[in-house]
Amino acid sequence: MAVNGTVDYNALVREDRVHSRVYIDKQIFEDEMERVFHRGWVFVGHASEIPEPGDYRLAWVGRYPIIMVRGHDGEVRLLSNRCRHRANTVCQIERGNTKFFRCDYHGWMYRNDGGLASVSYPERYDRSFSKEDYGLTPIPRIGNYRGFIFGSIAPSGMSLEEYLGKAREQIDLFVELSPVGEIDARGGIHKYSYRGNWKLQIENSMDGYHPNFVHKTFFGMMGRRGIKTPTRHFGGSSIAVTRDFGHGHVMLDYRECNKSGQVLNVVQGGEEYRTAMVARYGEARAQEIMTSGGTHLLVFPNLVMIGVQLRVVRPIGPEETEVYLYPTLLKGVEPELNQWRLRGHESFFGPAGFGAPDDLEMFERMQVGFRNDLDPWLILSRGMNRERIEADGTRVGHVTDEVTQRGIWREWKRVMTGGGEEADCSEVRLAAVD
Ligand code: FES
Ligand SMILES: [Fe+2]
Repeated sequence: MAVNGTVDYNALVREDRVHSRVYIDKQIFEDEMERVFHRGWVFVGHASEIPEPGDYRLAWVGRYPIIMVRGHDGEVRLLSNRCRHRANTVCQIERGNTKFFRCDYHGWMYRNDGGLASVSYPERYDRSFSKEDYGLTPIPRIGNYRGFIFGSIAPSGMSLEEYLGKAREQIDLFVELSPVGEIDARGGIHKYSYRGNWKLQIENSMDGYHPNFVHKTFFGMMGRRGIKTPTRHFGGSSIAVTRDFGHGHVMLDYRECNKSGQVLNVVQGGEEYRTAMVARYGEARAQEIMTSGGTHLLVFPNLVMIGVQLRVVRPIGPEETEVYLYPTLLKGVEPELNQWRLRGHESFFGPAGFGAPDDLEMFERMQVGFRNDLDPWLILSRGMNRERIEADGTRVGHVTDEVTQRGIWREWKRVMTGGGEEADCSEVRLAAVD
């Protein structure tokens, strides 16, 4: 499946199936880094992680090591973690607060706004050397939607708002569970990695077909504790749906379950919380936000939002992935409500929880299965001929249908065949070398 030595992505991804090579091939992984992670918008972090001037956190945009930092002027920037002298990383500590980043190799110092503050023994540079020319290189584009910070290595292309499209409404629902309209992403981090391709995690996060099988033990335990079992939300008779908003942004939508009293994503906060929500948003919108229970959304390619958590997927290699879970807190609520959010998160997703390890086991088994390519296709046809398209273009199917997987692959193929951002990132790299 190669055309003139390049990969033929049209042949690998069809409407109802995908070839297992896309999960194991080194060339395909390199192309993904270039076309998906370096040309498009990639989620980096949340502004609430760095509230004070000088706060920073290390991050990645594809293969680019960067620093998300709030400068002394209060502005959030995405700076290259690469000294302008000889490319040493200028910061190695995952997060902190600093006025300066000092490169350990020859001592060049950078301000927290990226500017070069000082050069060691400057008298040996001649007059043509200007500190103004050697600040930490900013990532070409930064976008901020309600505190969600995205970066793009491509200097031009679709705006972040346009890219997010209808996913914005879901981000709004996630954030507006707070009666002051703000979340705090400093509830802790849970990191894990697995020996499998990064796309297995994003597909699985939006898969409403698997929970009753993979998470049977967890649901059984909940049932024995007298907690309403959510199994019916994932079974054939569920009234939940899958949605594909375009651009690879897809969701599992349980809102109808919640409206009908089959509460899955409940919000426990008592009368005080309800009153504050109505005061801020009005009765109808407050009700809509609270019954949405957050969301269950993929912002393609690397951000998953489920209930209370942000889940960030970082591809390391074709068969190695890191995942970071950030349970979020709501600003402007009683501490009990945030505690309830954290405990709920831990029971399913935490290191001692049931959910995440069950799923990881599936990913690693799939990665073994890919080795046998006598029949190399993975089937994505579930519910294909029963999808309906709403007036705004959103595709909708049953919660167990593979509307979400098809949505992810449609976008992946669009980008991988060159239909994504037009900007050529090799220009950026050449400019950086100059
Ligand atoms: S590499 Fe940073 S000062 Fe030399
Ligand atoms: Fe799962």
